This record gives sequence, structure tokens and C-alpha cells, in this order.
Amino acid sequence: MESRARHVASAHVTHDEASQESFLVDLRKEVVRQWQVDLRKVHRALNGKKDLSRQEILKTLLREGSGKVASALRATAQEMMWDSVGACIERQLPDLDRSAATRNPKGSLSLDPDLLMPRYVGAVDIHGMPGGYGMELTPEGIFAGAMYERGGAIRSMRGGGSLANASGRALVAYLRTSHPNFSPKRVLDVGCAIGQSTLAICDAFPDAEVHAIDVAAPLLRYAHARSETLGCIVHFSQQNGEETTFESGSFDLVVGLAMLHETSTKAMQAILNEAHRLLRSGGIVLHYEGRPWESVDPFDAAIHDWDTYYNAEPFIGKMHDLNTRAMMVQAGFGPEHYIEVTVPSDFYGTTASKGGGRWFFGATRN
Ligand SMILES: C[S@@+](CC[C@H](N)C(=O)[O-])C[C@H]1O[C@@H](n2cnc3c(N)ncnc32)[C@H](O)[C@@H]1O
Repeated sequence: MESRARHVASAHVTHDEASQESFLVDLRKEVVRQWQVDLRKVHRALNGKKDLSRQEILKTLLREGSGKVASALRATAQEMMWDSVGACIERQLPDLDRSAATRNPKGSLSLDPDLLMPRYVGAVDIHGMPGGYGMELTPEGIFAGAMYERGGAIRSMRGGGSLANASGRALVAYLRTSHPNFSPKRVLDVGCAIGQSTLAICDAFPDAEVHAIDVAAPLLRYAHARSETLGCIVHFSQQNGEETTFESGSFDLVVGLAMLHETSTKAMQAILNEAHRLLRSGGIVLHYEGRPWESVDPFDAAIHDWDTYYNAEPFIGKMHDLNTRAMMVQAGFGPEHYIEVTVPSDFYGTTASKGGGRWFFGATRN
């Protein structure tokens, strides 16, 4: 884990913690692999029942003994991960808070204590992370940010590269190939969390003014400290992507990476509407999400839908059923300007999602 890029707010990891985390990565790899093997066996035994919906497949799989064990193991591995990461962060939290307090920043951080946390974030411990994205164990602290980074590294089984920014790199790879002359002057990253993808975009467009928003203050504090040490100038602010304070037509590129599936149908539409308002003519909006279920094998869909019920991602299953093209059109984008693309993983160099690549949807603004 320590080979990953270190920065001012990085947690220090003892030898024992490092080997515990390595064990958890290996356990997770094994559990995820074995869970798929076991469930595939159960699925095969269901013979001929090819017309089952993903919900029916999942329900049936989880009624079987080995399906139950596989599911329980996966959930337990996730809980063990948070226990381990949590103990490591709590042990040194005051020091981390102190080092994250950035002096003479080149970018900026603007927090809004009056911002109402949307229920879909505030009421859920997404991914089982204790306390959720807004969790503060210390006043004005960075607990949730530090948890997010270390937990994320284990969850992704160390995929995503040393800066865990594979999604951002995939987005850049797509833009470079399909819009080679596109050089945004102002960029907005909606739902930036700790700014991992933001930094990939920042690096790709060094002349752009980059803004990044999120609803969770501890993530933003951490993101700010992290990006300053890693040499990126980003203006972070605590805002809801459904309705921001930015001026209409003030951005060339609006992105959201793996954030829409953590909202709701109503919020997702509002976020797409807001992107339309924020973009200047010729600007581009892009969202990275998992592929729609209609293009996924029902067994694989059932496996992924597990997160809806057992990994505290209540909207993820529903989101994959939505018609993103229709929602973009409703937001005001011309149907002929709709974008839907899978960026192959070898295109942006990552060990994660081998062969699968990343699916984006979006549009250009007319
Ligand atoms: C999985 S994380 C995103 C990861 C990040 N974009 C990246 O690529 O590294 C989802 C983030 O979206 C944020 N979020 C959810 N709804 C939001 C909203 N309406 N406005 C702003 N941020 C939101 C959450 O607080 C969370 O930090």
C-alpha cells in the first residue's frame, strides 16, 4: 500500500497495519473470485430458467447454501476492511487533521456549513463506510477523507494506479481521441469526493481553471490538502450538484465520475439539468457509470446488483435501468449530441476492470 502516492494527509501505516491491509486485499480478491465461481455453479444448476430477471436470479442464488456463504463472506470482508482502516486512521487523526490544514494554498477550499446534506448521501453509510461521507470525528477534521482513500485502495484491490485515478484517465483518453482539439478553459467535477479523478483532469488540461464540488466537507478538506501536495491547483467548494452557485454557460467541461449511482432518480435528473445550464455552447458533459443492465448478461447484472442490497448503494440497481439518453434529452441536450462510449481499459493503462473498460454517457451542448 505504501507504494501509492503519498501526500500531506496520507495516513502512516505500521508494519502490522500494512500486512493486515495486504491480507485484506488478498482476502477480497479471493472472496470476489470465489463468490463468482460459486454463484455461477448455483446459476448453472438452475438450468433452463433463462428468463429470470436479475432480481430473481440474485434472490434464488442467495437462497442456496453456497450463495449465502459467498454473500456473507463478501460482506464480512468489507466490514473487516473498515475495521482495519478505521483503527489506523483514528490512531493518528489529530496529526492528520493538523497536517491537512493547508498553508498558502494555490487552489482554494470553500465550505458551506449551512448546505443541507441530501438524504441519499446523509442517510446512508455508502459502501458500509462507518458514518458515511460526512463523518467527522474531530471538529473540521478529515476522517471520512482518510477513510475513503485507504478503504478505496483495498476495495479496488489496488487497481486504478498509484493515484487511484483510472476513471479520470479513461475520461481524458476518450476526450483526447474523440475531441482532439478540445481544450477546456473551465472545468467542473461534480461529486469529486477526495479529488482522485479531478487530478487526472487537472494534469491533462494544465491551463484550465478546475473547480470541484461535493456535499461532504471532510472529503473536501482532504481533497484540498491532497491536491495541494500533489501539485494541482483546484478550487474545491461544498455544493450540491443539483443546484450550484456557478453562472450559466460558465464551463467548457462538466464531469461526474461514479457519483450519479449514489443519488436518486430525481437528483440525477436535476444534476443533468444543472450541467446543461452550466455549459457554454460547444461544451461537453460526461459521466462515468457502470453499463446499463440491458447491455449486461443477467447473471453479471445480478452479481453487481448485490451492492444495492448488501453494500449500502441503494440506488445503483435502479440507476442502471434508467434511460440515460432520455434523461439527457429532458435536460435539454439534443438527441443527436448524445454520447455513449466504453473506453477500453488498456487505453488508459490500469489493472482494474481488465478487458471491461469504463462506460461513459454524456453530450455536447448545442
Ligand atoms: C463514489 S464518490 C465519487 C468519486 C470521485 N468522483 C472520483 O472519481 O474519485 C461519489 C461522491 O459524490 C458525492 N455526491 C453525491 N451526491 C452529490 C450531489 N448532489 N452533489 C455533489 N456531490 C454529490 C458524494 O458525497 C461522494 O463524495
